[in-house]
Amino acid sequence: MSIWPLTAQPALSIGGLGLAEIAERFGTPTYVLDEEHLRARCREYSKAMAPHEVAYAAKAFWCRAMARWIAEEGLALDVCSEGELTVAAAAGFPAGRILLHGNGKTLNELSAALDYGVGRVVVDSVGEVVQLAALADRRQQVLVRVTPGVDAHVHRAVTTGTEDQQFGLSIAAGAAADTAHRILRLPSLELTGVHCHLGSQITSLDAFETAARRLVAFMAGLGGLPELNLGGGHAVPYRPRDQGLDIASFAERIIGVVEQECAAYGIPVPRLTVEPGRAIVGPAGVTLYRVLAVKRGARLFVVVDGGMSDNPRPALYGSRYHVERVGTRAAAKTEPMTVVGQHCEAGDVLAPDAHLPRNIRPGDLLAVPCTGAYHHAMASNYNHLTRPPVIAVRDGQARPVIRRETDEDLLRRDTG
Ligand code: LLP
Repeated sequence: MSIWPLTAQPALSIGGLGLAEIAERFGTPTYVLDEEHLRARCREYSKAMAPHEVAYAAKAFWCRAMARWIAEEGLALDVCSEGELTVAAAAGFPAGRILLHGNGKTLNELSAALDYGVGRVVVDSVGEVVQLAALADRRQQVLVRVTPGVDAHVHRAVTTGTEDQQFGLSIAAGAAADTAHRILRLPSLELTGVHCHLGSQITSLDAFETAARRLVAFMAGLGGLPELNLGGGHAVPYRPRDQGLDIASFAERIIGVVEQECAAYGIPVPRLTVEPGRAIVGPAGVTLYRVLAVKRGARLFVVVDGGMSDNPRPALYGSRYHVERVGTRAAAKTEPMTVVGQHCEAGDVLAPDAHLPRNIRPGDLLAVPCTGAYHHAMASNYNHLTRPPVIAVRDGQARPVIRRETDEDLLRRDTG
């Protein structure tokens, strides 16, 4: 798996457009998104999982253009808030293909989902079951999110399959079975399956296999159910030697395990769903920054015109990135440098160990790959920096799918 998008000539062009030209036209920092790459990933997932289901997790990156691409590629959709649902609706995303998630859903969220007619609601507490049953005026399909008690050995902040965290209903403690039985007694709800999400940036198939076995056993206890949703969390490489999760191997092994287990329990094989976010859109994105300053202190620092407001992931999860200078200018020897942002915190480090050409200077352009997922989605206005645009590129054409934020935007919510 490459860390650069499919149509990229590393640190030169994407989608047939020069990165320097994109920076010139749209300014920096800028997120660049390779449309062909993410569409290709959708197809790769659909092909590997067929005849099962692939639902894109909107939280990774969401806007109307993305909603249309996902709809056109035939994927289902995981939304986890009323806001994500609003964007899906604004793009006319087919309601029947939507799953609504959330460990706590407001009454407004539940009502909006029912009004739009979302296909399935993934319930995460007993109270929610009661509320949903009361609100539904026609039979609503639901899945129960369960806690399988599986540790996928990823960052603690994104570990969601173990007992000691806030998502799902425990299989081991009996809460999952109690909730399932409760749903089965409610005429306005139809229990179609179970769901779990183990975490994010998972490289090993073992955790998914264990979860699949536990969930099939749980479903067998209920006499079998039509759907088994194993969530997302498939890893992608951020730096050249990082490991990604290969979807073809995932599909072969996990579908095989589910078939075997179902045969052993004598229950029908359910339709499987996977919910990748990062794996669809992460490697399709590259961020462009302009170098503002180069300073030699205890280390050699390269200051860029963005930072933790457009990429909070190093500060939140200790994530590591590859950084490259854009263009072909005199390939000087490289040396280790620390790439930092403009924010007023020493923790605003984008890459502590970038290897960049010694002749780097202010005005140079830098490219950071694998920034399509959880970058724009998690961007903030910290220090009143404006959020960068997202520029989709394809066949030599560039199109802003999200425009750059302006100073007027910053003042819009400030009531004075
Ligand atoms: N399904 C559910 C129920 C989820 O909660 C998530 C992600 C996904 C699917 C998609 O996971 P993915 O395939 O993208 O790993 N902000 C963090 C990632 C948080 C993921 C939260 N849930 C990061 O930047 O690494």
